[in-house]
Amino acid sequence: MTTVLGIETSCDETAAAVVDDGITVRSNIVASQIELHRKYGGVVPEIASRAHIENLDTIVQEALEKAACQPGDVDVIAVTNRPGLVPALLIGVTAAKTLSWAWQRPLVGVDHIQAHAYSPAINLSKPPWPAIALIVSGGHTSLFRVDSPTGLQLLGATLDDAAGEAFDKVAAILGLPYPGGPSIERTARDGDPKVIQFPRTMLHRDSLDFSFSGIKTAVLYHVHGHGKTSGGLEKLSSTDIADIAASFQQAVVDVLVNKTMLAVAQTGLSCVVLGGGVAANSVLRSSLEDACGMRDLTFIAAPWAYCTDNAAMIAALGYHMWQQGDLAGLDLDALANSSTRVA
Ligand code: KG4
Ligand code: ZN
Repeated sequence: MTTVLGIETSCDETAAAVVDDGITVRSNIVASQIELHRKYGGVVPEIASRAHIENLDTIVQEALEKAACQPGDVDVIAVTNRPGLVPALLIGVTAAKTLSWAWQRPLVGVDHIQAHAYSPAINLSKPPWPAIALIVSGGHTSLFRVDSPTGLQLLGATLDDAAGEAFDKVAAILGLPYPGGPSIERTARDGDPKVIQFPRTMLHRDSLDFSFSGIKTAVLYHVHGHGKTSGGLEKLSSTDIADIAASFQQAVVDVLVNKTMLAVAQTGLSCVVLGGGVAANSVLRSSLEDACGMRDLTFIAAPWAYCTDNAAMIAALGYHMWQQGDLAGLDLDALANSSTRVA
């Protein structure tokens, strides 16, 4: 058995986890900084980095204790080193290097997006690959062909806003609290998704790329009375806001489901996996499940706890990288971009 300690500090969650053999999650501790960033309406890198410094030690201790794991039982240390906010990433990377050196254990640098793509496979005894992976988060919206835990081919990505970013920005336009995704989902439950036909940007007919900036602007214009006034929000009832949230959510889900089915048609694969923070959205999960069911495709969504940022997915993918000898040295760098963003 190989025990991996995972560490994740790429954005506003300080997280640590202990995972055996890339499958069995023994602990998964996440400290969210949402309250610290709420008043700014988004993540402030310096505040995130400072909070990681304050919390990481305790979070790692907690992950080890919950797993009943002594430092000597850890075989490998895996840390997110890309993509993300560099000042935030650096805290996790520095801590992981220190532990690797102090405990004399191998170090693995994990790509956060690859880990989101791996997250639907956590807990599965039989890997789901090859599969189409739809990864929808606050920073990324991508479709991959996945042939193995580390074998990803980028098929398409957003050309502007990520889906989660669109949820966050539209929530701000509607005066709903940060983070926007869960707020929109909650508000949309009381709304009718058919009331407003927001644009579903599909780009070129065969394209697997996405664009979500248009729908965000369409919501803004709708709220401002099609640009005739600068305000508008105060004129809307709570039913209007619920209808806008539901119609926006449906439009984003329609595009994500359509493009994923296009990727299936283009590749002939018969399995679809879903990961990333927006994968926590129940309308997206059920719509994709229905679309897959109609085509006899296997559908696997990441378990809810592994959708938003967590270190279990980092430890799990780290195990496979370690197995392949993909180790990092003490010169491991924190990088803003993903290794998956290749042509
Ligand atoms: O994966 P994640 O935790 O962080 C990044 O890697 O970006 O994703 C965070 C994003 C945020 O934009 C948040 O609004 C969105 O995921 N999100 C949701 C839901 N829960 C989180 N979006 C839609 N519906 C949700 N229930
Ligand atoms: Zn993420």
